[in-house]
Amino acid sequence: MSLQVGRALRSAVGRTPTARILGNLPASAASTTRAQFRARDWIPATAAGFHTVPAARQQQDGGYGKNASKSTTEKKPTEEELASAAGSYARTDDSITVEYPPEHQLPSSKPVTGAGRAGANVFPTLATLSLQGKVGVVTGGARGLGLVMGQGMVISGADLAIVDMNKEEAILQAKNIVDTFRKDNPDAKRPPKVTAHYADVSDPVSVEACIAEIVAEHGKIDNLVTSAGFTENFEAVAYPIDRMRKLWGVNVDGTYLFATAVARHLMARDAKGSMVFIGSMSGAIVNVPQPQAPYNAAKAAVRHLCASLSVEWAKAGIRVNCISPGYMLTALTQKILDDKPDLKMQWTSLIPQGRMGAPEDLMGPVTFLLSDASSYVTGADLRVDGGYTVT
Ligand SMILES: NC(=O)c1ccc[n+]([C@@H]2O[C@H](COP(=O)([O-])OP(=O)(O)OC[C@H]3O[C@@H](n4cnc5c(N)ncnc54)[C@H](O)[C@@H]3O)[C@@H](O)[C@H]2O)c1
Repeated sequence: MSLQVGRALRSAVGRTPTARILGNLPASAASTTRAQFRARDWIPATAAGFHTVPAARQQQDGGYGKNASKSTTEKKPTEEELASAAGSYARTDDSITVEYPPEHQLPSSKPVTGAGRAGANVFPTLATLSLQGKVGVVTGGARGLGLVMGQGMVISGADLAIVDMNKEEAILQAKNIVDTFRKDNPDAKRPPKVTAHYADVSDPVSVEACIAEIVAEHGKIDNLVTSAGFTENFEAVAYPIDRMRKLWGVNVDGTYLFATAVARHLMARDAKGSMVFIGSMSGAIVNVPQPQAPYNAAKAAVRHLCASLSVEWAKAGIRVNCISPGYMLTALTQKILDDKPDLKMQWTSLIPQGRMGAPEDLMGPVTFLLSDASSYVTGADLRVDGGYTVT
């Protein structure tokens, strides 16, 4: 749904195409300004390119960093070049646009497979990490990060309810998750129960109906992951107010509505539970160069909503934590970046680990926070960003 909205919005501010991309990912096609390219030229060829010598760092030390000084091929920037590049990696750029793929070209996400990643567990591990006997709900679970986190919950022993606006895709992926589980665990005594449900998370009536449907099918809910969300890029002075309300409606209201509905269910059962809100590193830092002030503010709200609810519900035995992913390579972002290698280089140049995250990088963190292994952790924000926010 968010995708349709993104396209419908094209040119709402008189630009074509409207920049829009999911998660934290910059809606950045023409990503690098001329000044930035000049800054990049200073990086010595022997430094194996942008990945190993972050351009921002190069820029900070004027291109004369440790690696640079070892090079014999280094070209010193002129005063004029230094001045023109100054600050260029720490600013938003209103000209950043990305052509969002049409609905019929949106790639399906794929469940993870393979021994040692998502396959049969053949190694000893902590019993408290298991989600055996739990029923988990993941909103936005038909695609991207939500799908793979839901799969991680299933591999860890939980039954799962996938909630999404796109019910058709949710049904398809529920089957994929069970099929993959069966293939990877041929000796499993009981295959997991994975169901698909429609909800618009920003609509309280839809949320209540969805929770009732899940409880009717699974008997209870123990865990919640709120992954439904999206971002758009508009310069703040031209952000259409209806778009901003829609963005906050899904990212903030949607998190609040699902969390409070599940909390009421847990309290009525007098049962403990654990929730994970999917925020973003954008809730703690300002991404550059794409302008996305309302998204950043929405994700900050998600993080503090988590902290606030964790205190309010601690006495009920309900834990609430937040995961703030960095730049993640989903099927959708992969499709966009295949055409934009420069853009990927620019993003990864700012990540200490030197790569974007894979959706499966969230499997462990989400399982840990939902499980009893983290029973004394509540109100935390776990950044899964390859170190981006540390620098
Ligand atoms: N991809 C990233 O790099 C990244 C980084 C940080 C945070 N995030 C956050 O992670 C979450 C998932 O992102 P993703 O990249 O997997 O996105 P995605 O678009 O691949 O998946 C989002 C899913 O949410 C569903 N959805 C959207 N609006 C909905 C609504 N109103 N009700 C119910 N379902 C709805 C969509 O149909 C889709 O299946 C988002 O909250 C996003 O902000 C993503």
